[in-house]
Amino acid sequence: MIRFLLNQQEVSLSSADADLTLLDYIREQRRLSGTKEGCAAGDCGACTLVLAEPNSQSDGLFYRTVNSCITLMSAVHGKQLISVEHLSENNTLHPVQQALVDHHGSQCGFCTPGFIMSMFALYHQNAQPNRDDVLNALSGNLCRCTGYKPIIDATLAVCAQAPDDQFSRNETETLKQLLSFDTGTQGTPNLIMPTDRKALAHAKAQHPDAQLVAGSTDLSLQFTQQLKKGETLISLNAMSELKTCTTNEHSITIGAALPLNDAMPTLLKYFPTLAELLTRFASLPIRNQATIGGNVANASPIGDLPPVLLALDAKLHLDNGTDKRIVPIREFFTGYRQTQLASDEWLAHIEIPKLKPKQRLAAFKISKRMEDDISAVCAVFKLTLSDGTIKQVETGFGGVAATPVQCNALADALVGKTWSDKSCVALGKNILENAFSPIDDVRASADYRNTVLANLWHRFWLENQTNNTIQTRVVSHA
Ligand SMILES: Cc1cc2nc3c(=O)[nH]c(=O)nc-3n(C[C@H](O)[C@H](O)[C@H](O)COP(=O)(O)OP(=O)(O)OC[C@H]3O[C@@H](n4cnc5c(N)ncnc54)[C@H](O)[C@@H]3O)c2cc1C
Ligand code: FES
Ligand code: FES
Repeated sequence: MIRFLLNQQEVSLSSADADLTLLDYIREQRRLSGTKEGCAAGDCGACTLVLAEPNSQSDGLFYRTVNSCITLMSAVHGKQLISVEHLSENNTLHPVQQALVDHHGSQCGFCTPGFIMSMFALYHQNAQPNRDDVLNALSGNLCRCTGYKPIIDATLAVCAQAPDDQFSRNETETLKQLLSFDTGTQGTPNLIMPTDRKALAHAKAQHPDAQLVAGSTDLSLQFTQQLKKGETLISLNAMSELKTCTTNEHSITIGAALPLNDAMPTLLKYFPTLAELLTRFASLPIRNQATIGGNVANASPIGDLPPVLLALDAKLHLDNGTDKRIVPIREFFTGYRQTQLASDEWLAHIEIPKLKPKQRLAAFKISKRMEDDISAVCAVFKLTLSDGTIKQVETGFGGVAATPVQCNALADALVGKTWSDKSCVALGKNILENAFSPIDDVRASADYRNTVLANLWHRFWLENQTNNTIQTRVVSHA
């Protein structure tokens, strides 16, 4: 059974196609056609819906935007599904809708319901957001005619007030209802939702051809773009043991099924220099669903997190329900989209060593757009110094080979050299320019990739001098 609230109405689904998206459910089965379909690929935000769920950090609700075109029904279990039709009350526009009218934030109106839902989630989340917070909240929404200034102004104005709407008034009652959905079997016969590792192992044994699905931001494209049929899927959405985030003296351990946005506070606490890369990973609604486990397990050569995890020497905890084993990420990728995962295994946790005092970390993402774009090249460098001498250089790169890769030759050439010595720039650039044989594709040519990789080493060197450090990035768009 999949149980949720459609606004305030309780819904129980005993059957649903495994590949049914929230968008098709809401438009075709509930006839709520305010939510639009633009790209069906998570790229435009016309389909944005909000899922409200018990907040793990407080006793209230957390309002999460999702791209409903690539979100499966398993994501809605135990949550309140809110669409644009639910916002107005007694024929009076919701404050975010009124703000968009007052600031002239809509012309043809196609993108408007999606923007409204992103504004609505921010209205409930962040008292008095600044312009960067607003840009982050709207990062998954495209508008082709109004221009963004009126929409940003409307969002800043309405979110300056404390939330005062039917949702805040009903919060206690909504929370009580949602918590009551936690009991009983979850999922449907072909969208299986195990709740512990034994049940997950059993589901995999019973359905050897069923694919695992976590945030579905990658997998769903098989259904919406390639029009494949997903007969049976095993969702990790109810696996609370895969959604934890713990730390000890030496490392942080993140559950493979925890959405990236939920892991971000911990990641940024221990690795603050990842801020730019993480906030440029797709868009907020994608990060609200996409998991680190999915990013690693899909073994894409252009994923943004494997380079980070390579440079940080992360360990992957694999499980089959009976045995667990730990594989260093440096040994995990065995070929294009190939990994060490056995057919009965899943990725359970990712363990990341903390930085030591003399270590520096930097991540660079090169893509055509700031937001919601896949990297042409991603480069991550971790440097260990002792009294200004290079002790170790660890790396992770995306977009330059068939798998995420490292460059050991860089460390071999640089260890023992004085970091501030300018010869480190030329040496590193020369090695990186010739280290890989990337391909030409729509994102970038092979020549561009090689050149940019070498130049990123130069930027890393400039940014990390003890004296005379040079800032090479745009740090605010305010
Ligand atoms: C618009 C858009 C923008 C994007 N931008 C970026 C970007 O900037 N950077 C980037 O790196 N990626 C990006 N992506 C790709 C995608 O969002 C990420 O790869 C994401 O981390 C996938 O996680 P998921 O939980 O959604 O995976 P899913 O789609 O649920 O699964 C992906 C694959 O991993 C497998 N899998 C998932 N979890 C596990 C597990 N625990 N154990 C074993 N196998 C598992 C699934 O079976 C499936 O084969 C983007 C995608 C979209 C649609
Ligand atoms: S329709 Fe474009 S993001 Fe969903
Ligand atoms: S108002 Fe037309 S696309 Fe935004």
